[in-house]
Parts: sequence; structure tokens; C-alpha cells
Amino acid sequence: MYMELKLQYNNTSNILIATGNAHKFKEIKEIIGGCGGLNPIFLDKSYGIEIIEDGKTYEENAKIKAAGYIDYLNKKPDLKKFLDIQFILSEDSGLEVERLDGAPGLFTARYAGENASDSSNIEKLLMEMSLKKECASNRRAKFVCYACLYDTTENNFQYFYGELSGFIAENASGTKGFGYDPVFIVPEFNKTAALLDSAQKNAISHRGTAFRKAADAIKSKLNIHG
Ligand code: IMP
Repeated sequence: MYMELKLQYNNTSNILIATGNAHKFKEIKEIIGGCGGLNPIFLDKSYGIEIIEDGKTYEENAKIKAAGYIDYLNKKPDLKKFLDIQFILSEDSGLEVERLDGAPGLFTARYAGENASDSSNIEKLLMEMSLKKECASNRRAKFVCYACLYDTTENNFQYFYGELSGFIAENASGTKGFGYDPVFIVPEFNKTAALLDSAQKNAISHRGTAFRKAADAIKSKLNIHG
């Protein structure tokens, strides 16, 4: 298993993306892809990395995820040595809906319950919005993202923020992206995020903004220009 990783990632600075979510990894890899000399590494669910997100803020949860991967690698010295990670990048993101007083917020991933599917989360969101009769016309919402960068050589954590404002659609449309994308209307395109190409989404998304800032910080640490 390790050999496959080696073949894929045999270059300069290895950066571990601390997520088990393949969709998020794909987006993050595309976002920081322009940062020459960086090899984004993904440890998929088969590695069995369990993280309990019990932080009280997005930043705390982002740090808990990075720290969880640090602990995991410390318990697997051969894998740690093999991967030779210089940076760990994690994130915590969520959806905040005005009509629901900022919910689902920190509970976005598990709005309809632990391990809820994207479609049941969306169903719950649309139901909660329809039950709340006040301000019925207000469908404003935003995605927020806090990226956390851990530098193994400096042993410190840095945070980077991004957000994307939009509206919640009455019905789902589109099949691209993940999570709440099918009901999140991006005003700039007047389409749901699930109808956008990944390049269009990444150019304006909460994750795109936060991770481009993180990539800039990495570039300046590594003295990469351009
Ligand atoms: P977590 O950061 O993994 O705890 O989960 C955040 C949750 O927010 C995800 O599971 C998605 O449901 C949702 N989410 C975050 N970013 C996006 C996005 O770009 N599109 C759609 N849903 C998102």
C-alpha cells in the first residue's frame, strides 16, 4: 500500500491533506495545484483514521483534525518516515442559513444525524426552512471554511478563512460537487454549485479562498515565487 503512495508522490514537499472526504481532497488538490513543488497526499478511509470533531468553533475542529492526523502518524513511525510530511492541511467548513439563525453551522455534516447522507441533510434543511414561517422569503446563506496549516518543522498552526454567500434553492439541481451543492445557489452564476464546473466553483468558493491563502503562506515559507 505504501509503495503506491511512493510512486505517486516522489517529489519535493509532501503535504498531507487531513480529510477522509475524497470530494474535499479533489477540490483542495485542484486549488493548491498551482503551488509548484507540493505533493498533496490523501489517506483514504481504508487507513481508518478516526477523528472526533467536538470543538466549539470551526477553528478548533480544524485543529482537532490536523492534530488527529499528527497522532495517527506518530503511532505509525514507518508510514510517517515513508511519507516524510512537511505540512498538514486540514479544514472545517459549514453552511449557515439566515432563516435558521445560522444553523446547521458546526453540525452541517451531521444535520440529519451521524453519518447522514448528503441527500438526507438536504431534505432536513429544506424541511426546517419550510417549517420556519417567519422571514419566509429570506433564503440567504453562506458557506464558511477555516483551513488550518500545520508546519512540522516549526510545530505551529495557522488559520485561513474563506466564505461564499448565496441562497438556498427550493429544490435540488445538479450532480457535481458534494454536500449541499445541489441547493446552494451561487449568485454570480445564478446556478446551484452542483451545476458549476469544479474550476468555476473553486475560483469563488469558501474553500478556494481559504486554501489559496494557505497556499500563499506555504509558498512564502518555501520561497516559491509566482
Ligand atoms: P466537515 O468540515 O467535514 O465537518 O463538514 C462540513 C460539511 O459542510 C460537509 O460535510 C458538507 O455537507 C458541507 N459543505 C462544506 N463545504 C461544502 C461545499 O463546498 N459544498 C457543499 N457542501 C459543503
